[in-house]
Amino acid sequence: MTNTIVVGCQFGDEGKGKVVDLLAPSYDAIVRYNGGNNAGHTIYRNGEKHIFHLIPSGVFHSNTVNVLGNGVVIDPLVFEEEIRALQKMGASLEGRLFVSDRAHVITPQHVEKDIKRAKGRLGTTGRGIGPTYAAKIARSEDAIRVADLFDSILKDPVLAHFCDVVRPFATDTSHLLNQMHADEKSLLFEGAQGTFLDVDHGTYPYVTSSNAVAGGACTGAGIGPTLIQRVLGVVKAYTTRVGKGPFATEFGGEQAAAYCDDYSHTAGYEQEHFEPAERLLRSQDQFLFGIGLRKKGDEYGATTKRPRRTGWLDLVMLRYACAVNGLTDLAITKLDVLGNIPKLQVCNVYELKNCSISLRFPAHHAALSALQPVYSTFPGWEGDISTARHYNDLPLEARTYLEAIEDSVKVPISIVSVGPRPEQTIIKRKI
Ligand code: GDP
Ligand code: IMO
Ligand code: MG
Repeated sequence: MTNTIVVGCQFGDEGKGKVVDLLAPSYDAIVRYNGGNNAGHTIYRNGEKHIFHLIPSGVFHSNTVNVLGNGVVIDPLVFEEEIRALQKMGASLEGRLFVSDRAHVITPQHVEKDIKRAKGRLGTTGRGIGPTYAAKIARSEDAIRVADLFDSILKDPVLAHFCDVVRPFATDTSHLLNQMHADEKSLLFEGAQGTFLDVDHGTYPYVTSSNAVAGGACTGAGIGPTLIQRVLGVVKAYTTRVGKGPFATEFGGEQAAAYCDDYSHTAGYEQEHFEPAERLLRSQDQFLFGIGLRKKGDEYGATTKRPRRTGWLDLVMLRYACAVNGLTDLAITKLDVLGNIPKLQVCNVYELKNCSISLRFPAHHAALSALQPVYSTFPGWEGDISTARHYNDLPLEARTYLEAIEDSVKVPISIVSVGPRPEQTIIKRKI
């Protein structure tokens, strides 16, 4: 019996969905604990791609119970859409999908407020996440919990519909999970977003409004920290970020950030820019190199389709993520995307404005924007590694790259992902 938290170690989209789907058969419950439908978690089943925004990524495994904990904010219309799609595929959800009666509900008014600021300073997904959490923390009148939907006769037809959608699934999920634990069942907690989007530990204010870090699993699911044995950090072999905010190792720096921000033109530009990804990845121009990596890694948001900003792996960030999450294991994803790039770099330390060196991740976004990453260079490898299934199938250069990560952060790598499909995975160490 093991209880494990899966948490994103960068700016989200690290491949948490794939990892959770992969681990799900060894667990009895899969639990989302933070965020809402700002998340987009991709999994492949029988060769088909599925993106979940709210429903936990274990749902295709019929022996699992799937739970939306009290820390999640729920847009009932998105929830309804996802359960309808699952039912259409023949998935049976009865008795195996539960929603916390303490979770807060995203209303159309929250979404409207968020959309108004979606294009503004912070660049949100516009899904109502910030306004819903703000109402919750402020205990304002527009804060509605799932339990409130059942509490009175609802005159508002939208809320009455929400009530009908959610009622069959609502329960005290903290009690359910603690009971399962008492019955020696194993629990898997699925983080949304990532450490650097966490409202306390991320690049504030360019963050989301919940605790994405591992600690969020306790408050967001109603379980105690003593229940957890493993914390698995999911890390892309490079870095991406969607939306605004500092990004020290970004290819092409400010030019790339502005280009991705203006995404109304970006899709067109990248189509026009018909050079293949492999050729762009040989460019000396960092901006073009970044477009190449985006194309090769298919780095376009699962939720908003926005182009993700791209950059080298940042070990200063990863060491910070290891600490604040208490990681016991790492899963490195998208290693295949780094194939056929002559030289790879990873950032080890930051050089600050006054030329001093920092091993630590600074608190203020202005300090982050001003620093210079200091890189180590590694030789790349030729060829396609997406068919590798054992650690020793990987080229020496790929293993050297992975071992340099382990050496730097002092947390062992347990999973190496070499493609989006579940079988494209190397289990290096049993989870
Ligand atoms: P999440 O939000 O952390 O669950 O990640 P997303 O699903 O938003 O984004 C990860 C993307 O990378 C998805 O399109 C996945 O199908 C894909 N993916 C996951 N692991 C790998 C991998 O090892 N290699 C490649 N090429 N793609 C991957
Ligand atoms: P998953 O779970 C990547 C980003 C948004 C924006 C900022 C705040 O798929 O990894 P919000 O709507 O939360 O107020 O937006 O956070 N963001 C994500 N980026 N992956 C996510 O989730 C994200 N959820 C929010 O782009 O910059
Ligand atoms: Mg995602």
